Formats: sequence, C-alpha cells, structure tokens
Amino acid sequence: MIYSKILGTGSYLPKRILTNADLEKMVDTTDAWIVERTGIKQRHLAAPDENAVTLAEEAGRAALDAAGVKPAEIEMIIVASTTPQMVFPSTACLLQDRFGIAGCPAFDLNATACAGFMYGFSIADQYIKTGAIKNALVIGSELMSRIVDWNDRSTCVLFGDGAGAVVLGASSEPHVLSTHLHADGTHKDVLYLPLGTSKTPSLETVKMTGNALFKLAVNKLGDLFDETLAANHIQKSEVDWLVPHQANIRIIQAMAKKLSLPMDRVTITLDKQGNTSSASIPLALDAAVRDGRIKRGQLLMMEGFGGGLAWGSALVRY
Ligand code: COA
Repeated sequence: MIYSKILGTGSYLPKRILTNADLEKMVDTTDAWIVERTGIKQRHLAAPDENAVTLAEEAGRAALDAAGVKPAEIEMIIVASTTPQMVFPSTACLLQDRFGIAGCPAFDLNATACAGFMYGFSIADQYIKTGAIKNALVIGSELMSRIVDWNDRSTCVLFGDGAGAVVLGASSEPHVLSTHLHADGTHKDVLYLPLGTSKTPSLETVKMTGNALFKLAVNKLGDLFDETLAANHIQKSEVDWLVPHQANIRIIQAMAKKLSLPMDRVTITLDKQGNTSSASIPLALDAAVRDGRIKRGQLLMMEGFGGGLAWGSALVRY
C-alpha cells in the first residue's frame, strides 16, 4: 500500500498588520464586537507589490526546506486561491516557472473558496496513493484584502492575507488516512464573489450572509466529522488535534465540542491572522508543527468550508 505523508509545512504572512483599533477608524465597528463575535484581533495585509504567486512562493519554499525536498522532486503543484494573480496562467504555473520545474502538472483550485486547501490536499493524496506521483506541493495563497469591500463592516473585519503550504510525499506507512469532500450548490447565495464573465469589467467584492453561513458550517462540519471518523473506524477520543479552517472562533468552539476536544487541542491562528480563506488550514498547521505542539504520530482532524458551499476534511496520522 502507498500512503501520502506530510513531509513539511511552510507559511508566509505579509508584514503589515491591521488591528481592530485600525478598523475602528475605518468603519462603524469596535474591537469588542469583533473579538466577541469572531475572535479576531488583527490580520496581515499584503503590500502593493505582493500577489498570490509571491506569497505562495515564500510558503512553498519554507515547506520544501522543512521537508528536505528539492523543487525538482515535486511532481504536482496545486494552488488553492480565490485571489489568483491572473485567471490564467494559473498561480501554480507562475509558481512552477519561479521554481524552474517545467513539466509537472500545475493548476489552481479557486471555485472551492475557503475549502480549497482541503480539495487540493485530497487531490494530491489520490495521485500519491495510486503511485502516479511521489511528491506534491499543495498551497493555499490568498489576498482577501483585495476582494473585500472596505466600507462593509460585516465582511471587512473578517479577512486577512497569507499563504500556507505542505509537501505531501509517498510513504509505506499510513499517514493520510482518508479525505472527504462535499459541495452543495443550493447554498450558492450565502457567500459569493461575482467575478469575470458574470460581471465585467471589474472585480467585485465578497458578499456574505453571515448567520446563515455560520449555521451551515456548524451542521455540515459536524456531519463531516462523523463521516470521517466512521470511515476509519476511529473514536473521537483518539483525535489529538483539530486543525480547522479559521473563520470564526465560535464555529471552531462548536467543532471542538463536537469532538470533545479542549481548546488547547485546537490550532488557533485567527486571532492574529483573521480568515485567510484557503491559506488558513496550512497556516494553522504550520504554526503548531513549528512550535512543537503537533508531534509525529499524533492524529489530526483537518477541516475546511467555504463558498459553494464546499467543504472537506482529512484524517491524518502526522
Ligand atoms: N461591527 C459592529 N456591528 C456589526 C459588525 C461589525 N463589524 N458587523 C455586523 N454588525 C452588526 C449587524 O449589522 C447586526 O446589527 P443589527 O442587529 O442592528 O442588525 C448585528 O451586528 C448582528 O449581526 P449578525 O450578522 O447577526 O451577527 P453574527 O453574530 O451572526 O456575527 C459574523 C456575524 C459574520 C461574525 C458571523 O455570522 C459569522 O462568522 N458567520 C460565518 C462567517 C464565515 O464563516 N465566513 C467565512 C466562510 S469561509
């Protein structure tokens, strides 16, 4: 049997920080409201000369270094991004050029929004498990600051910029135990960004019905945990870490409760980073791996959800 294994992780966060106090000067909001309703205290914002490719390159190189894998050994590049530098060439192709590794498949996932990283992770896992490739680079890279309406207090306080990456490689030991993906287009109206051919000429901004999305996330992710554990005949008590998408601390708390996990067994980055969409799961994973909280052999439940609605999970023996 061939399994995929997380060989290394990496992160990149732009230097500029926007605090809740800064936002108080921009829209009718308060630090207290944002912290109480979301858990977010600050977020990073990309500089004008940064884009999805530059962020992805920083995170990708850090993950390759951590994995001890050379760019030339990568056989597939997947970049999840709702904010690509261009519609095409894909961010993944532009990144491949920077890495000088022409030839391997490279593509973006953007329609899966904040669930994009879980989709990319699952696709790479399938290719590795079948023996088609040995190593894949999976990255979430987002500049949400470029697609939020900075006059809309109900969305602009939520998001941030950043990139997170993992190198997945083939292993004879079971590491990635299973991945699970879902989508339900009937919920297309709760979160969307009308871009491209649907509305021309300019990029529009994120539209969201927050409380409907909140309830959908809690329900769908609860079912997803049941499905993921059942597929592996694993009890929730065996899970060591929840590595969730970082949208709202109250959603994350509900998910931790569903797994009967204390909050110190949940990777939290949203207080410092906000919701970085498809970058948030690898950013949270990398932070906990690098500071030694997540250790080899521990069992991780990773989950993401986003516009579509799209959602997905992975159960990983790290
Ligand atoms: N500051 C102050 N007040 C704000 C505000 C802000 N930044 N944003 C909204 N409000 C107000 C609303 O106008 C509303 O006022 P009203 O009662 O006078 O109409 C009130 O706060 C409550 O709004 P509501 O949307 O019901 O709040 P909420 O408790 O649902 O929290 C979210 C809003 C967005 C934080 C929450 O719904 C959420 O996180 N949803 C999920 C979002 C998500 O996951 N998005 C990403 C998916 S990938």
